[in-house]
Amino acid sequence: MLKSLLLLAVTILFSMATNSECAQGDQLIKEKCESCHAFVKPEKSDLSRFLNRKGQDLYWAGSKYNQDWLIRWLQAPSRIRPSGAYNFTHLSANAGEAASGEAMKSDHIRLSKEEAEAVTEQMMKLTAPADVVEAGIYKPGSATPEDGAPLFITMRGCGSCHMWAPGKGGRSSAELYTGGERMKADYIASYINNPPKFDAGAWMPRQMFSDSEIQKFTAFILSLGNKK
Ligand code: HEC
Ligand code: HEC
Repeated sequence: MLKSLLLLAVTILFSMATNSECAQGDQLIKEKCESCHAFVKPEKSDLSRFLNRKGQDLYWAGSKYNQDWLIRWLQAPSRIRPSGAYNFTHLSANAGEAASGEAMKSDHIRLSKEEAEAVTEQMMKLTAPADVVEAGIYKPGSATPEDGAPLFITMRGCGSCHMWAPGKGGRSSAELYTGGERMKADYIASYINNPPKFDAGAWMPRQMFSDSEIQKFTAFILSLGNKK
């Protein structure tokens, strides 16, 4: 009897603890993040929303980010877009120098370890539909980073918008030199395959790459970052 009472008490306490972690993550997102980022895909997601949003959309965060990277980055955010948020209203002609738009003038909000873990736990639940991020589109081992490097850097022009190493490459979009730590393989491959599915207004062109080229780009990007 005593034993089962004890068990009950422990179970209740445990579920309270896990629930409050969830609630805390939700609460933090509401208070500290929703003013700039969308966590639910808006019904109307047109060009004007894209141009005026203050931060990237995070409603598919669970399919995009590696959990470890997200927990670390939220505690010590580093600049991902060297010229500021990538929409026209925030972009400055002064690329590379100090930030551009209003949302980029100050540093990104930092969270404590506990807060970062709670927020990440919530964000990992936000996954993309199966026809957007295709599970298994990247086939590990089918290409090497060395296959992808020349395509990325010169032949296909990816390097004119994206940096592949600090200081190397274009500054008009997200750096990809931490890309392999930051993003999941299937997200990277699906994005390259069809950018407008992710960011309807973004100026990354949709190109008809062969599957073999997509494997090569992805293998190269996955090799960039600490997680080799
Ligand atoms: C004042 C607006 C603002 C607030 C508030 C804000 N962010 Fe951001 N966030 C940004 C901007 C702008 C960027 C782009 C930074 C860059 O590219 O260097 C960004 C980038 C990010 C990224 C990386 C996006 C990517 O894929 O490149 C994540 C993840 C993120 N924010 C999460 C959060 C979370 C979680 C919160 C709340 C704790 C939060 N942000 C609060 C404006 C904001
Ligand atoms: C004309 C400029 C341009 C070119 C060329 C370009 N991209 Fe992009 N790319 C973008 C923009 C804009 C985004 C939107 C990402 C953002 O800022 O959040 C993007 C996003 C991405 C992302 C997702 C990154 C993230 O952090 O969300 C990947 C992966 C990517 N591009 C790979 C490539 C590859 C591979 C090529 C070459 C085949 C390429 N890009 C060519 C502009 C470009």
